[in-house]
Amino acid sequence: MAQSTSAEKAPAGKNTVTLIDNGTGRSWDLPILEGTEGPRVIDVRRLYADTGFFTYDPSYGATASCDSNITFIDGEAGVLRHAGYSIEDLAEHSDYMEVCYLLLHGELPNQAQRREFEKAITYHTMLHEQMMNFYRGFRRDSHPMAIMVGMVGAMSAFYHDSTDISDPYQRMVASHRLIAKMPTIAAMAYKYSIGQPFIYPRNDLSFAANFLHMTFAVPCEDFNIRPALARAMDRIFILHADHEQNASTSTVRIAGSSGANPFACIAAGIASLWGPAHGGANEAVLQMLQEIGSKERIPEFIERAKNKDDPFRLMGFGHRVYKHYDPRAAVLRKSCYEVLDDLGKRDEPLLGLAMELERIALEDDYFVEKKLFPNVDFYSGIILQAMGFPTTMFTVLFALARTVGWVAQWKEMVEDPHHKISRPRQLYTGYAKREFVPMDQRG
Ligand code: SDX
Repeated sequence: MAQSTSAEKAPAGKNTVTLIDNGTGRSWDLPILEGTEGPRVIDVRRLYADTGFFTYDPSYGATASCDSNITFIDGEAGVLRHAGYSIEDLAEHSDYMEVCYLLLHGELPNQAQRREFEKAITYHTMLHEQMMNFYRGFRRDSHPMAIMVGMVGAMSAFYHDSTDISDPYQRMVASHRLIAKMPTIAAMAYKYSIGQPFIYPRNDLSFAANFLHMTFAVPCEDFNIRPALARAMDRIFILHADHEQNASTSTVRIAGSSGANPFACIAAGIASLWGPAHGGANEAVLQMLQEIGSKERIPEFIERAKNKDDPFRLMGFGHRVYKHYDPRAAVLRKSCYEVLDDLGKRDEPLLGLAMELERIALEDDYFVEKKLFPNVDFYSGIILQAMGFPTTMFTVLFALARTVGWVAQWKEMVEDPHHKISRPRQLYTGYAKREFVPMDQRG
C-alpha cells in the first residue's frame, strides 16, 4: 500500500524534491510518495497554497490522480497486473467472474466466495420489465453505444434502492446490478437493431455463455453455444476488465467525486469510452481494414498515418502508456487464431490483411521509433467480427467488460475517507479585464 499520503509539510531530505523559483530565488521542499511499485510521485497538494503555482499537465500524462491498489501497468515493460496477478495468468487460468471478484475485493475468491458472488451476479441479470420500453423510443438504426449510455443512465430511475453511495450495502448491490445487467442491456440493444425479440437471461449459463445466448439465440429453436466461443468471449471480457486511470475510468472517478449515483457515473464512463481514440478504436480498426481493402494498399495507409497533415491514424496501434507492446494484444492474438480455427475461418481475408498490416507496421521505422505497437483493440475487432458481432457492437462489448473496472475504481474512490470533489485548475490565456462595449459601439 502507498505510504500515508497526508499533506503535511515535508522537511528537506531524501524523500523530498526542492523546487526553486529562479526568478525570486525562493525554494520549497515537496514530499515524494512511493507506492508498491512504479514511478514515485511528487506530492503537490500543497503547492498552490505554499507557492502560488499550479502544475500544468493538460492530458494528465504525468499526473497521478489518485492512489489505487486495483491495477498496475508498466508501459515500458508491457506489464498489466490486477492486485498482483498478471493479465497473462488471469486470462489463462481464471475467468471473468473470478476477475470481477478480484477487482472488487482485492483477492481471488475461494470456492464458497466464488459461488456466492456468481449467484449474486446471476440473479441480477434481468432488467426491470418497464426499462424494455425505452428501447422502443430509439430508432432501429441507433448506434448501440447511444442506447447503452441512455439505458445505464436510466437505471438511476429504476433502482433508487441502490443509489445511496454512503450505504456500503447499496454500493455493493449497485455494483452487482451494473456488472450483471450490462450483458442484458447490450444484447437487447443488438436484438432491437435487427428487429428480433429480446431473449431473457438464463440462470443455468455462465456469464459469457449467457451473453452469447441473449445475443444470438432466437425463440424458434435451441441455440448451441460453442464452448470455444464462450471461452474466447470470457477471455475478451477479462482482458478489457480494468486498465488503471484511463480516460473513461478517470471520467467515472471525476463524476463520482461529486457524489453522483453509480449508474450516472458509469453512463459517463460509457460516453467517454465511445471515442475512437479510446474504446471506439476496435470498431475503427475494422472500418480501417475494410477501407484498406487489400494488402497492396497497405503502404498507402502507412504513409498517411505518418503524414502530420493527414488526420488518419493507424487504428489499433499506439498507446498512451504501453511503449513496447500491449500485453492484452499478445493474449488476444493467440485467441484470435483459436476462434478463427474453431470457426473454420482461418483464411478470413480480414485476418490476413490485419496480419500483413501488423508485419509491415512493426518493421516500419516510424512505428518502431514512436513505439507504436498493436494494442488491445487491434485483434479484438477481428475476433468479434468472426463471432458474428456487427462492428457497431464492438465498443459495447468493451463497455460491458470494463464495467467491473469502472465500478471497482468508483468504489475505491468513494470508500477513500480523504476523497474530495475533483476540481482541476487552468492556465488562463484569455483577455485580461476590459470594459463592456454597448451594442451601438461595436464594430
Ligand atoms: C485504448 O488509456 C488506456 O489504458 C486505454 C485502453 C484501456 O484499456 O482503457 O488501453 C484502451 O484506448 C487503447 C488505444 C486505442 N486507440 C487506438 O488504437 C487509436 C489509434 N491510436 C492513437 O489514437 C494513439 O496511439 C493513442 C490515442 C492511443 C495515443 O495517442 P498519443 O498519446 O498521441 O500517443 P503518443 O503520444 O504515444 O504518440 C507518439 C507519436 C505522436 O506523434 P508525434 O506528435 O510524436 O509526432 O506517435 C503518433 C502521435 O501522433 N501516433 C500515431 C499513432 N498513435 C500515435 N501515428 C499514427 N498512427 C497511430 N495509431
